[in-house]
Amino acid sequence: MTEVKRVFKVNGKPFFPLGAQSCNSSGYNDKHSETAFKAIQILHGNTLEIPVYWNQCEPKEGKYDFASVDDLIASARRYGIKLILLWFATWKNGNMDYAPAWVKTNQKRFKRVMSRTGNEVWNLSSHCKENLEADKNAFAALCKHLKTTDSKEQTVIGIQIQNESGILGSDRDYGPDGQAIFNSPVPAKLVTAMKKTGKGYVFDMWQKTGGKTAGTWPELFGWEAGEFMTAWGIATYIDNMAAAGKKNYDIPMYINVWLIGQGWWPIPGEAYPSGGAVTKVLDIYKWFTPHVDMISPDTHVADTKNYQAVCAAYARDDNPFFNPETGAAGNAHAWNMFRSIAEYNCLGDFFFGVERILAPDGSVRPENQIVVDSVRCTAAVIPLLLKYQGTGKIHAVIQEDLSMSILMDFEGYSGVVEFGDRRGGYNGKDWKHPSNDVPKAPSYNNRGRGLIIQTEKNEFYLIGANYRLFLRPKSAVENLHPRLVIADFAPKMPGWNMVSIDEGHFDRDGEFVIDQSRNGDEADPAAWVEPDCGVIRVITCE
Ligand code: DGJ
Repeated sequence: MTEVKRVFKVNGKPFFPLGAQSCNSSGYNDKHSETAFKAIQILHGNTLEIPVYWNQCEPKEGKYDFASVDDLIASARRYGIKLILLWFATWKNGNMDYAPAWVKTNQKRFKRVMSRTGNEVWNLSSHCKENLEADKNAFAALCKHLKTTDSKEQTVIGIQIQNESGILGSDRDYGPDGQAIFNSPVPAKLVTAMKKTGKGYVFDMWQKTGGKTAGTWPELFGWEAGEFMTAWGIATYIDNMAAAGKKNYDIPMYINVWLIGQGWWPIPGEAYPSGGAVTKVLDIYKWFTPHVDMISPDTHVADTKNYQAVCAAYARDDNPFFNPETGAAGNAHAWNMFRSIAEYNCLGDFFFGVERILAPDGSVRPENQIVVDSVRCTAAVIPLLLKYQGTGKIHAVIQEDLSMSILMDFEGYSGVVEFGDRRGGYNGKDWKHPSNDVPKAPSYNNRGRGLIIQTEKNEFYLIGANYRLFLRPKSAVENLHPRLVIADFAPKMPGWNMVSIDEGHFDRDGEFVIDQSRNGDEADPAAWVEPDCGVIRVITCE
């Protein structure tokens, strides 16, 4: 597990941003952003990610207009919500849609990528200095503005530079600037970094191509030369912007990534934006973006195996894991978020399109309730996440398809988590959560999920949905009858020794406040967990 580096802070104190990203691709107005803020409140989130558009902020060259940013900050303060601003500029989803008109219409000065066949692509070339200077100046002006207007209150806690950068329409720039670089020596810094690192896809490709210590891009990287050069070009470009921005206002800055899809021959520039920080070129990005705090994948990945692979690739000692945009689609995120928080020390979590969770009457759409529940549960234990991430004390509870129970290992305790209604043994919860007389197999849409945080040997905090935890001290194992099976566990059987089970919440000082204590019938079926119960604290004794 990687070390926890708290990138996000508010007034010097570690902060765990949690919420969602607005849709708002088409320019926000008060009404739109109101909906997004309201939705974040319903989620119990603390932060909204929302775009800021270069074309809106600099309609005429050098004339900046940050009124829209000021409006957003004012609304955020009114709602008591923090902001992460997404700077849509040179790149948005692999194209240049958000460049100002004076950039789009002056191709001579602001050079576009040229494809292999000589066509201009709707994408500004990272090799054109005018492009970089123009975007960098606007970005630095935004940062300066934020410093002046927000450094005291710190409503804006971070900035995403660009959005899913890269080229759609070509693997690289075949125009004169791009060609010149392609046929020039690869920067010595890149060769030095590869030698020092000694592993990874970029290193392997270099070795396979002959491992020459100097040469042009194709001489060093063969058929990957175009994508590698573009990754280097874009990484350098964005790092330049980050350096200029941080000079004016030093707040967290990150890059998000459109990942390579799962097709059988994903072509860069076609299946995904070429030169974006996909896993295979992540090393290049890390070597050339010292001013960027992290490179963060847009995890529109639902299935467990691929989700874990993405987390594992981006959670590195030199790259804290952060989830800037995941798909609520299919609701897989209702489970996956717990996994990345517990197993990959995720620093913050956002799904895309927060307005979409609301029906026109402002209520939560039933199909999105499970994501809302998962975020709300996570929000309830933020004080514990800030304290215990990276210590091994936070455990994800994820019910995989068809799974009915899992064994868990805690310090001094073994645990069994059962999902859905209990099979055998007493089944009840409380009057607000009636169980079915006939236990049914758990349905996909309410699969069990959550977190268990063991803060002391005998103290556990639980959040989530549709599971119950049985605990047994490891020391008591030998006292149990050998034929006692898991399903027969009950708290009052040997080994549980439950002192208390309480439902509660954490107050502003991070102290646990009891809202309701469970006992008797409601504590017999072990520590059961549902989203509307808040945080469940279980205290046991030997
Ligand atoms: C990923 C992008 O980063 C977002 O801005 C948005 O376009 C979504 N895709 C749409 O699903």
